[in-house]
Amino acid sequence: MNLPDDRLSGWNRWLPGSVWAAAAVLSLAFACSDSNRPAPAPSQGAPPATAEPAPPAPASGAADASKEKLVARGRAVYVTNCAVCHNVDPSVDGSLGPAVAGSSLELLEARVLRNTYPEGYTPKRDSRVMMALPYLKEDIPALTAYLNQ
Ligand code: HEC
Repeated sequence: MNLPDDRLSGWNRWLPGSVWAAAAVLSLAFACSDSNRPAPAPSQGAPPATAEPAPPAPASGAADASKEKLVARGRAVYVTNCAVCHNVDPSVDGSLGPAVAGSSLELLEARVLRNTYPEGYTPKRDSRVMMALPYLKEDIPALTAYLNQ
């Protein structure tokens, strides 16, 4: 309350102390509930400021960022699902599987999803050790990005 002193003392003179105290408590309560209230919801329809699209970045910059994300995702998928047999470094032969760096999307789809090879492809190994990992269907683009970065 930023009432000037003279007005404050004037009120005090004719208001019983208890009423004054009650008013003070009430105004405090209101002030508190006001400050504790969550920030006002943005008006309906208008997206919150944080959801605004980033200022238009140069096209190549945006593409780089999403490619980086894809490669990072591919690396995680590879390390988790493939490195047990292939090398952690995909350009080197692994304990069971050959080097797979540079594998095309077509080869990865055939090998990982269907346990086959693209038509006319000459496999690096004629063993039949690797099994299909069809649950990685959504991750083939990421794996391709990682193995061809
Ligand atoms: C159980 C071990 C094992 C796992 C797990 C495995 N591979 Fe293989 N992979 C092999 C072996 C062994 C070969 C050689 C052919 C064969 O025996 O099936 C191979 C072959 C390949 C080939 C063909 C290479 C070529 O050019 O002939 C690709 C591509 C490949 N793996 C990718 C992957 C990817 C990607 C993953 C993970 C999503 C993966 N593999 C998981 C063992 C494995």
